[in-house]
Amino acid sequence: MDSVVLFLLLSTFFTSSAQQMESNVSRGSYLTPGINSTWLSRSGLYAFGFYKQGNGYAVGIFLAGIPQKTVVWTANRDVPPVSSSATLSFSRDGTLVLQSTPEQTQIIIADSLGSTSAAMLDTGNFVLYNSDQEIQWQSFEHPTDSLLPGQRLLAGTELFSSVSATDHSTGIFRLKMQHDGHLVQYPVDTPDTAGYAYWGSGTFGSGDNVTLNFSPDGHLYLLNATGANIRNVTDGGYPTKDTIYLMRIDADGIFRLYSYELKQNGNWSVVWSSSGDLCDPKGLCGLNGYCVSNDTEARCVCLPGFEMVHPGNRTAGCEKSFNAADCNSKNEYNTYTMRELANTVWEDISYSVLSFPLKEDCKQACLEDCNCEAALFKDSRCRKQRLPLRYGRRQLTDSNIAFIKVGKSTPADMPKPNQEGHRLEMLIISAVFLTFGGMMLVISGIVFYKNHFWYRKLPVNGNAEVGDDVAPRSFTYPELEKATDGFREEVGRGSFGTVYKGAILNGQKIVAVKKLEKVLAEGEREFQTEMKVIGRTHHRNLVRLLGYCHDGTHRLLVYEYMSNGSLADILFTPEKQTCWEERKGIARDIARGILYLHEECERQIIHCDIKPQNILMDDYGCAKISDFGLAKLLKPDQTRTFTGIRGTKGYVAPEWHRKLPITVKADVYSYGIVLLEIVCRRKSVDWSLPEDIAILEGWAYHCFESGDLDQLVGPDDEVDKKQFERMVKLGLWCIQDEPSLRPSMKKVLLMLEGTIDIPTPPSPTSFFSVI
Ligand SMILES: *[C@@H]1O[C@H](CO)[C@@H](O)[C@H](O)[C@H]1NC(C)=O
Ligand SMILES: *[C@@H]1O[C@H](CO)[C@@H](O)[C@H](O)[C@H]1NC(C)=O
Ligand SMILES: *[C@@H]1O[C@H](CO)[C@@H](O)[C@H](O)[C@H]1NC(C)=O
Ligand SMILES: *[C@@H]1O[C@H](CO)[C@@H](O)[C@H](O)[C@H]1NC(C)=O
Ligand SMILES: *[C@@H]1O[C@H](CO)[C@@H](O)[C@H](O)[C@H]1NC(C)=O
Ligand SMILES: *[C@@H]1O[C@H](CO)[C@@H](O)[C@H](O)[C@H]1NC(C)=O
Ligand SMILES: *[C@@H]1O[C@H](CO)[C@@H](O)[C@H](O)[C@H]1NC(C)=O
Ligand SMILES: *[C@@H]1O[C@H](CO)[C@@H](O)[C@H](O)[C@H]1NC(C)=O
Repeated sequence: MDSVVLFLLLSTFFTSSAQQMESNVSRGSYLTPGINSTWLSRSGLYAFGFYKQGNGYAVGIFLAGIPQKTVVWTANRDVPPVSSSATLSFSRDGTLVLQSTPEQTQIIIADSLGSTSAAMLDTGNFVLYNSDQEIQWQSFEHPTDSLLPGQRLLAGTELFSSVSATDHSTGIFRLKMQHDGHLVQYPVDTPDTAGYAYWGSGTFGSGDNVTLNFSPDGHLYLLNATGANIRNVTDGGYPTKDTIYLMRIDADGIFRLYSYELKQNGNWSVVWSSSGDLCDPKGLCGLNGYCVSNDTEARCVCLPGFEMVHPGNRTAGCEKSFNAADCNSKNEYNTYTMRELANTVWEDISYSVLSFPLKEDCKQACLEDCNCEAALFKDSRCRKQRLPLRYGRRQLTDSNIAFIKVGKSTPADMPKPNQEGHRLEMLIISAVFLTFGGMMLVISGIVFYKNHFWYRKLPVNGNAEVGDDVAPRSFTYPELEKATDGFREEVGRGSFGTVYKGAILNGQKIVAVKKLEKVLAEGEREFQTEMKVIGRTHHRNLVRLLGYCHDGTHRLLVYEYMSNGSLADILFTPEKQTCWEERKGIARDIARGILYLHEECERQIIHCDIKPQNILMDDYGCAKISDFGLAKLLKPDQTRTFTGIRGTKGYVAPEWHRKLPITVKADVYSYGIVLLEIVCRRKSVDWSLPEDIAILEGWAYHCFESGDLDQLVGPDDEVDKKQFERMVKLGLWCIQDEPSLRPSMKKVLLMLEGTIDIPTPPSPTSFFSVI
């Protein structure tokens, strides 16, 4: 229907030139740049053929009917432009081939033997037909950076941005329709994991075969395998009269919906875009550079002491402009100084995390550590990094401070600093500070004015310490009753109580409110201390505690809301099956979260109840551990407790049953079970299965020992065999009966990442006593 309307509209619009137009191309036809360079669609809106690219020509589809001649598709986009003597032919055997003279190289565009005719359709699709008029090949199935109405992005396929508006070869960003139902933007050459994502549709776990669809009214939406609309990316319903739409992942990494009013002969205008912040796309700036944007432009700035590798090419990044002295003796660090960069955020690739109340301590710690090249300081945590720093951007609302270690000597022959020099330096520094201070005042004024920033800040309870502004807030019971609308919407039930959905900050922030049950009656002070400890754990793989309530007999916790359910939903719901890569990412996320609890946070926390129901998934498919630190509320002295099993049947380490002391290795055990569940996609205990395979640990070891791991791979699960074996081996090490045999979480992570080898595990031996 719609295409008929469009066709009528366009044919009246282009009648003047419609006579010469070709819409049916027969075998033996050919095109050359210059004259007869394209095959036009019937209405003349779209053309297939040569268009100008750089010093030569490329083959593709463009909007011939508008002055901009916007290119929507390019054949073999990474092949260099061809000369004006090239020919494009629809050969006698039905192949579409580009012959580039004088080199006489042949580039096959569509190898579809048996095609008898071709047509440039008015939808913008170029198709090859067989003699039965069935489609053999179509450009709509090979998208580059754009989609047109009627075109779909299928599961497992992706769009790649172009290098620039005029160079249509593959650029540095991609938009992928994943097999897990999530539509995600990443930089190129990165794994499909949450850490690299910079935009997502939030439909993680909607099953395979989800497609991105595009209708002529500008509606972009996701359909699942059964054809249900699961997400509207754009609202749609935009005017269709004399208007066409185009969706494209632009060279700047943002994906946009454009409209064009044909009658106005105007220009493309943006109807919708995936982000308003030009610095959102990760990797826009190369290594050691960071992105600074206003509403219209994004710039890349080098770290202090660095300069651009190729001036003018921001993706090439920045390199040191000082001579790096060897750092091996104690006094060497005197040749370095730390430069401070406020309000910038970076990818955290810390090799060590320390807790300091003051930023000066962090600065000093990095200066004195020869391995440290930069440090990120935020919320009393000091994260030491090695270079290069990546995915940097300025974010005025972020309190992160980056310290960069810079050599005092520059390649140029600097005069030795003397009193005079120092005074000048001081003058310059104070001038800079004054200017910067003034700027900050103006900026914060603007921010305040625009966003009422002050009101959004969470009120602080207790003593003001550095970093306390992000400490969990104390709520009264009536406040939480109101936030959850009288505890109306139950979203889960865990070992510690029931979870309700709610909203705080005038409905601006969706939260999960957990009503604790079975909590030991504890004093106000102990509870608050505990909340503070939990509240100070900040890690991307831990669910964030935002507040708590200790009101009479009520004990409630307020967490950030995780929109995508738990790992249990993903693993044990047949429709939500996730792919191998995704599962590997989840296993790594969980390991990182536990490692943080065990080794990196202020006070060691043993979780005691690691299980898939306690692993929650955020919008981007990143796994986060919840309920950590709660074991403490049940009983003090958690690390060496002898009474009462805390964990959940099937996941608890044997030492719980033997009343042995509980250490971090109990979490390693539970992690091992969860890891086996993740790789095998089944529950650790499943009595619906035959008895010999009902208990996963025993079955897994049996399969491993007999060298028949294929039996462990779930039905229609595509796994990487080598990695699968590694993960099973690692799982078996983690579930060793003897706690000291189990690896530490740090080792687990190294093994997961393939950094260290995994020896052959012995029999865990205890798997029958666990149940
Ligand atoms: C295109 O032309 C071929 C032969 O000239 C004819 O058989 C075919 O039906 C035509 N196709 C269309 C869509 O008109
Ligand atoms: C262009 O192609 C048409 C049909 O394919 C042909 O009739 C015409 O002669 C060609 N013009 C030139 C200049 O080659
Ligand atoms: C997805 O599509 C493929 C190919 O059409 C099909 O084999 C598979 O069963 C589909 N998966 C689901 C979950 O519908
Ligand atoms: C598609 O979504 C609908 C509605 O949300 C749901 O009922 C259906 O089970 C989903 N289909 C698949 C294959 O996930
Ligand atoms: C998407 O938008 C359409 C209207 O354009 C509406 O009918 C539908 O319910 C929406 N779907 C979702 C999942 O929001
Ligand atoms: C359309 O917009 C682009 C970018 O904003 C501009 O470069 C171009 O000149 C405009 N073209 C017309 C015809 O207005
Ligand atoms: C954004 O910055 C560029 C240069 O950095 C400047 O030319 C432009 O006017 C700025 N735009 C706005 C809206 O401030
Ligand atoms: C810019 O640098 C990147 C990375 O070094 C390189 O791939 C790209 O070709 C360069 N671009 C230009 C226009 O030189």
